[in-house]
Amino acid sequence: MKKIIPIEELPAWREAFRATGKRLVVTNGVFDLMHRGHAEYLAQAASLGDVLLVLVNDDASVTALKGPTRPINAEADRATMLAALECVGAVSIFKGPKATDALRAAAPDIYVKGGDYTPATLDRDEFSALQACGSEIKILPLVPGCSTSGIVKRILSETHSGEDVTKDVSLDKKLMPIFQRRSIRDFLPREVSTHDLGLLLEAAMAAPSAKACYPAEFILLTDSDLRKKIAAVLPNGSFLANAPAGILICGDIRRSCGELLSYLLQDCAACVENLLLAASMMGLGACWLGVHPRQERMDAIKNILSLPQEVIPVACVALGWTAEKKAPRTNYDPAQVHLNAW
Ligand SMILES: Cc1cc2nc3c(=O)[nH]c(=O)nc-3n(C[C@H](O)[C@H](O)[C@H](O)COP(=O)(O)O)c2cc1C
Repeated sequence: MKKIIPIEELPAWREAFRATGKRLVVTNGVFDLMHRGHAEYLAQAASLGDVLLVLVNDDASVTALKGPTRPINAEADRATMLAALECVGAVSIFKGPKATDALRAAAPDIYVKGGDYTPATLDRDEFSALQACGSEIKILPLVPGCSTSGIVKRILSETHSGEDVTKDVSLDKKLMPIFQRRSIRDFLPREVSTHDLGLLLEAAMAAPSAKACYPAEFILLTDSDLRKKIAAVLPNGSFLANAPAGILICGDIRRSCGELLSYLLQDCAACVENLLLAASMMGLGACWLGVHPRQERMDAIKNILSLPQEVIPVACVALGWTAEKKAPRTNYDPAQVHLNAW
């Protein structure tokens, strides 16, 4: 189909388009199993300029972003379906998880993104490329209740005989902050303000606690040498050294419910999850770094920070402005759900 432009021909196509004096609208995405949400979004995007170019993720990047079962339709099929829409003027398939190079080649007059984004939460590389092209950025709301994941889930639930309590829901918008929280391990070299750290701590300390004992203590790791020292004793947390901030969550066993370790750990874990959710809602990236029950990690951290005997380091959180993009998701598995019996 003529509307499909090989990515290597995009710069020449853009040059020729420029000569027409028309305004180019560009959006990018996966567009697997086309549905009404896609059609309405694309029609709205197209109405913002003269011609709409859709940049489509190649198959490898969809698998990297959404997991091994995706895409359902191969890149050539997805591109053909898009090209068949009247509102779509051109389609190009790009490689890699980010559309940065393709956006540079497309040089949009207007760039459109769908979903709960703001210019501040767009991917930083893509945002810089758009700024360099002088693109106007427009965010359009997605059509609620329309998603490829939802369609897949409905099909699967019909082919499974067991009860699937999620058959009518899929990454519900109301719960999006939960699905959007992902472990982020790559950060921009940009400081996390004291104000933002304060917000995170307030969120962490809003967590439930057994008998309201609140045994958790928080050590802010704003000193980069200290972060490096702690990163060096966390075998899976070396990236803490490059994170602009960190928070160590400890528990004081004297203040735990019944002085029990299990309650201390559960209380601290609830604080960590609240902190991670708050970070994600604020546009920050964060990753849980396991400390307890690894004795050598706990001993090393106690030593570095001269913690009192009764204070147990439980987990560390690496924090910063995210330099990676991860798709919202759940790991919902109907096989792990039991209806009123094992
Ligand atoms: C108790 C616990 C310890 C973890 N420790 C580490 C760690 O040391 N290093 C790391 O990179 N991620 C760590 N993680 C993050 C998990 O790898 C991550 O949550 C998991 O892969 C699922 O990905 P998601 O957070 O993006 O949903 C830890 C998570 C938990 C709950």
